[in-house]
Amino acid sequence: MEYCDAQRLLEEHGQEQLLQYYDELDEAEKKQLLADIAKINFNIVESKSPHETKIRGHICPVEAVSMDVIAKRRDEFYEAGKKAIVEGKVAAVLLAGGQGSRLGFHKPKGMYNMGLTKNLSIFELQFRNILKVAHETAYFHIFIMTSRQNHDETVEYFRSVNFFGYPEEKIHFYIQDVSPACGYDYKVFLDTKCHVALSPNGNGGWYSSLIRNGLGDVVHGNGIEWINVYAVDNVLQKICDPVFIGATILKGVKCGAKVVKKAYAGEKVGVLCLENDKPAIIEYYEMPENLKSLTDENGELVYRWGVILNYLFDVEILDDTIRARLPYHAAEKAIAHMENGERVTPSKPCGYKFETLVVDMVKRMGSCLAYEVDREKEFAPVKNATGLDSVESARELLIKNGVEL
Ligand code: UTP
Repeated sequence: MEYCDAQRLLEEHGQEQLLQYYDELDEAEKKQLLADIAKINFNIVESKSPHETKIRGHICPVEAVSMDVIAKRRDEFYEAGKKAIVEGKVAAVLLAGGQGSRLGFHKPKGMYNMGLTKNLSIFELQFRNILKVAHETAYFHIFIMTSRQNHDETVEYFRSVNFFGYPEEKIHFYIQDVSPACGYDYKVFLDTKCHVALSPNGNGGWYSSLIRNGLGDVVHGNGIEWINVYAVDNVLQKICDPVFIGATILKGVKCGAKVVKKAYAGEKVGVLCLENDKPAIIEYYEMPENLKSLTDENGELVYRWGVILNYLFDVEILDDTIRARLPYHAAEKAIAHMENGERVTPSKPCGYKFETLVVDMVKRMGSCLAYEVDREKEFAPVKNATGLDSVESARELLIKNGVEL
């Protein structure tokens, strides 16, 4: 892109501030800035989609397959799931492109050391669970989604630990797409004088980014029919759990979601519900207060099934729906940016990042099994350094589960 084209484009969108340091840059930096400007999707910023304005359809509670039922049918589910893995029909996608801004750790979140007396990264904890399943069934393909900020360090880390003994040819890294970050006035930030603040575009783009990175051949060429998507920040995450996979396949649905009973009405987790008769996830900030705290005759929350970012998706539906764009959500975040010629790194939110969310994909699938798991055994999120959903609370749960730290 030439300077005059960038100028015209930015004027059209009211974003001329992005060229304010242009004259101070050398030739290479100028090129860099113009290349970044060419990558901006202005529709995202202009859609100004703060969550308060979101209108949802008619919401009803959903039934989940309970832990009791799962325990009774465990062998049947396990065998069906194991068969699918052994036949090569299942793969996993690790969502590791987030920036972990709440944790305030400046490396890939998966490298965070959960150990107390030894090094024990989140990646290692998750791979221990993966290896356990793989040894009982078969090695499955694992796709690791990174961001352009943390890609090299992530790949380097996996190499340094020899992929935890997992066959390297079954592990595929790819970089997710970006979206612009802006201030509360919707003016796009500069990250440096010659870089636009482009950040990972949320975890909803995991399948389109995977395909754009040419990995569709691995999926389709190997006959993968199901993809288990999971978050990096749950240190008790069970990946490609054969019982969960079997239960979803035997139910004949297009998607499975691991859910836990919400601990209390205001817990900040998305809730699996029916929206206009279709399974959908309502984020905690979208759920009306009266529904959040509604209880049934047993005193249990009516909308109680919180999602833990562990889903199983049918590849055929993913392929069918890939062109239908997911909505962008504006998330308030602390964003490093240029201000009066200096780069500032605020510790509090100062603007918006725009993200698509994996939760929005569930509705596209048309059907979904809500599969109850024990939060004490499967849900230890690491979002913050201390307090709620923190390193501390996750370590406590790891110890309870017999993990030596
Ligand atoms: P979070 O929504 O907790 O976001 O991610 P985050 O960026 O990791 O953390 P904060 O909000 O800045 O503190 C949930 C999961 O989705 C992944 C994360 O890596 C995590 O596994 N994710 C999130 C991506 O892969 N890409 C993204 O753009 C955002």
